[in-house]
Amino acid sequence: MITFVTGASSGIGRALALRLAADGDDVALAARRTDLLADLAARIEDGGRRAVALACDVTDRGSVEAAVAACEAELGPIDRLVVNAGIGSPTPGTDFVTRHVAKTLEVNLLGAVTTIGAVLPGMIERGRGHVIGISSMAGFRGLPTAAAYCASKAGLTTLLQSLRMDLHGSGVAVTTVCPGFVRTPMTDRNRFAMPFLVEVDDAARTIARAIASRRAVCTFPLSMALAMAAMRLVPRPIYEWMAARPSHRRVSDRSD
Ligand SMILES: NC(=O)c1ccc[n+]([C@@H]2O[C@H](COP(=O)([O-])OP(=O)(O)OC[C@H]3O[C@@H](n4cnc5c(N)ncnc54)[C@H](OP(=O)(O)O)[C@@H]3O)[C@@H](O)[C@H]2O)c1
Repeated sequence: MITFVTGASSGIGRALALRLAADGDDVALAARRTDLLADLAARIEDGGRRAVALACDVTDRGSVEAAVAACEAELGPIDRLVVNAGIGSPTPGTDFVTRHVAKTLEVNLLGAVTTIGAVLPGMIERGRGHVIGISSMAGFRGLPTAAAYCASKAGLTTLLQSLRMDLHGSGVAVTTVCPGFVRTPMTDRNRFAMPFLVEVDDAARTIARAIASRRAVCTFPLSMALAMAAMRLVPRPIYEWMAARPSHRRVSDRSD
């Protein structure tokens, strides 16, 4: 399998690329920090699989299309696309900065659109392929101070669901991954309690299993999924009162 992973320089993307390579995939590693990608590619090649490090900014369509073309020239047509690149910083409604909100949507949602748009037509033409989107449980309901992140993930989840229905019978599968909290550089900045935090290698193993079985949706960990399912049943006024309590407010530093 030829697998293209965005956001492969860090966190979930990096761990998943390593896991998939260990399971036999050749991988294209796409992100902006090419030094980190080069180290990762060398490690994967030492392990016996092919890997290419590709400079790619998902907010730049030309950069995404060039990375996809370079991957296909070097490794071959893409069988699996992992749409993982993402950012997450607080965007409190009391300090609504258009630029910050737009940036999150640009990377997490429009970046996914750009990446899928560069790869999906080829998959449809070949009658085979698999698009995997790393969304989040944060897309289930709005969370305080996270308007941009929640909106980006709700948008990604519904986008993938629509694609899954449209592509049924085309040979192209679509998997939506909704993790809870995973320990990565993104969550290392959080100053609030993160219930049911999962280690990144465990997350990668869970996602790789879902990819291998072409699952429609993979929500993990189960404990967090059950808690979120219960929260989704709570009437809106009670949910908003509970979520907005000061002890539940999400506070961390901006990094972008
Ligand atoms: N950690 C969690 O608890 C959690 C939970 C649910 C969902 N997720 C999702 O999982 C995905 C990975 O997050 P993570 O926790 O692994 O965070 P991370 O360690 O900060 O990794 C984010 C990755 O996205 C890449 N990226 C950011 N902006 C980019 C851009 N403009 N173009 C290309 N790549 C870009 C970064 O690479 P460069 O900076 O090198 O470009 C990096 O490789 C995100 O979509 C996130 O929303 C995470």
